Amino acid sequence: MQVVILGAGGHGQVVANVLLAMQAAGSPITPIGYVDDDAGAQGSLRLGLPVLGRRADLPHIDHDGVIVGVGDNALRRVLFDELCAAGETLITAVHPTAVISAGALLSKGTVVCALAVVGTDVRVGANVVVNALALLGHHTVVADHAHIGPGAHLGGEIAVGEGVLVGLGANVMSRRHLGAWCRVGAGALVDKEVAPRATVVGVPARLIITGNVDSMIAEEVKAMGAT
Ligand SMILES: CC(C)(COP(=O)(O)OP(=O)(O)OC[C@H]1O[C@@H](n2cnc3c(N)ncnc32)[C@H](O)[C@@H]1OP(=O)(O)O)[C@@H](O)C(=O)NCCC(=O)NCCS
Repeated sequence: MQVVILGAGGHGQVVANVLLAMQAAGSPITPIGYVDDDAGAQGSLRLGLPVLGRRADLPHIDHDGVIVGVGDNALRRVLFDELCAAGETLITAVHPTAVISAGALLSKGTVVCALAVVGTDVRVGANVVVNALALLGHHTVVADHAHIGPGAHLGGEIAVGEGVLVGLGANVMSRRHLGAWCRVGAGALVDKEVAPRATVVGVPARLIITGNVDSMIAEEVKAMGAT
């Protein structure tokens, strides 16, 4: 199965690494390269895979599946929705060293990186990033477009809303709810609910920003001409 990665930047190469590791472990998935709108990226090789063209070139590239390799949650959502609307097949990528426990479910477009642990009966939505060394405790539910950062630890029965960012090395205590599009800063300890679109940092986590991510998403959609 020939797969194109949308985005050739840092996170795109993280996704490429996961796909290459899957291929080396015997998966039929074969990453064939990237598409990226960055003019400077055209024709370059990244992790040995070529940048095959721009996003608009995708229909002309022979492929069976795609995956979004963009770290920013709002932008990843826009690109994911665009690919779904175009009828593309979004693949799910799981590094061979990740542990996917019994009863756990992963939806399309989701990436699970090296040494991550997805616990018992966990539900992970679409287009989610579970980064390296992250832990999702038992019966946790992660909604679409979220990003669980490297080394972040979530206890059991947590509800992670759409588009949530859990930063590097953050910890979330069991049975807490992270509201949609909230951000948990790197290294934080979340011991209470986090409101939608809020930004919390520190140990224990405290509110620093009551943000409005909608305006950011709207700007990104406008910039991409995808309205
Ligand atoms: C919390 C976060 C989202 C805030 O980003 P931001 O809106 O750009 O905020 P700023 O960087 O302007 O910081 C605002 C204030 O919070 C503080 N702050 C930011 N992140 C912090 C953190 N993780 N822990 C403690 N304080 C933090 C800043 O020092 C600053 O304090 P000041 O006002 O006293 O100067 C971001 O700093 C963060 O931690 N992101 C996680 C990134 C990550 O781990 N991604 C996964 C990697 S793949």
